[in-house]
Amino acid sequence: MTSRDDRINYLDYAATTPVRTEVLEKMLPYFSEKFGNPSSLYSLAGEARFGIDEAREQIASVLGSRPKEIVFTGGGSESNNLAIKGSAMLRASRSGHIITTAVEHHAVLHPIEQLEKLGYEATYVGVDSHGQVDPDDIADAVRPDTFLASVMLVNNETGTIQDVAAIVQKIHTAAERFGINILIHTDAVQGAGKLSLDVDTLGVDLLSLSAHKIYAPKGVGVLYVRRGVELEPLIAGGGQEQQRRSGTENVASIVGMGEALALAEAERASSRLRMSDLSTRLIEGIAERIPGSSFNGTRSSRVPEIMNFSFSGVEGEPILIGLDFKGIAASSGSACSSASLEPSHVLLAMGIAREQAVGSVRISFGRETTETDVDDVLQSLEDVLGQLASFPSAPD
Ligand SMILES: Cc1ncc(COP(=O)(O)O)c(C=O)c1O
Repeated sequence: MTSRDDRINYLDYAATTPVRTEVLEKMLPYFSEKFGNPSSLYSLAGEARFGIDEAREQIASVLGSRPKEIVFTGGGSESNNLAIKGSAMLRASRSGHIITTAVEHHAVLHPIEQLEKLGYEATYVGVDSHGQVDPDDIADAVRPDTFLASVMLVNNETGTIQDVAAIVQKIHTAAERFGINILIHTDAVQGAGKLSLDVDTLGVDLLSLSAHKIYAPKGVGVLYVRRGVELEPLIAGGGQEQQRRSGTENVASIVGMGEALALAEAERASSRLRMSDLSTRLIEGIAERIPGSSFNGTRSSRVPEIMNFSFSGVEGEPILIGLDFKGIAASSGSACSSASLEPSHVLLAMGIAREQAVGSVRISFGRETTETDVDDVLQSLEDVLGQLASFPSAPD
């Protein structure tokens, strides 16, 4: 890729992050010297087992949970699938009702749709123009056969934060009325390193994380499972992870994830201040310099790292290509849908018009982002949009 100074201005940290040096260094011995199978009995295996145990403790300490409540998985998608299908499949009736929101990641929406095909039912609660769900709307959706609610902590396209703790309270009150127990899951993949993940404060029973959003490798994640919660495993076999997720553990990546989450948590407060300043600089810069631009989301309850903008009359794709040409990596909506021209389901749920939604661009910041990078993307957006305006698209 061409770039002004050979350094890509990477502004897509919500899609994925590079593995940080400290994490890589901690992982390296587990590929070669400490390569044993953690389930074996000799001391070589013990080294691998020790690495996993330490990572489990690091993650439990950030979540305020017991180490035994941490299940390592193959990533955020698998964690969501395990929470949703694992709780549904335990039901003897093979039926029941799930509550979720219209703005969840596809790794929550699609497993629920799969369950609907099998006879389960679901309510997709809508959001306001800021992307926020009203806790009362969730409570109103509770039925006598509701067994699961899944509400994300931070939206991956807009950065909007859901008030999960308030939602949990409301669900418990509604569940008491029916004398039922509802499991509560949160997809906290985009919250790690940005918000507190304390499971007791949030009040959740199940919480998903993914390593590659926090400077650790792809293909490893965590599902926190509160003590006493039963799940049907999706992957059966050798019984690893206390029978919850079979398969020889991805030891090096697990070790990397433990280290990455510990580091992210230690740096969370200082990172928040820096990210807020950068975020204000970008949002205000775009509003001042780019006519016809709009900020999609909320200014009050959001993480500063993730921002979503629309540019009236322009599609997102040519903007991204223009930015790429200038050495800037940004994204349209979510990474999974960036190859399709379908407008984002999140923006549509927020009531944003189709034409605006197809013109949306997500910019997300991370550890390496500087003020110079923000000024660079501001200038480049101005240039690219200026060029696109002088080549209006052909009439339909
Ligand atoms: C909110 C959210 N949930 C789940 C996932 C899926 O995580 P993974 O890529 O580890 O499967 C992502 C990744 O984009 C995400 O942003």
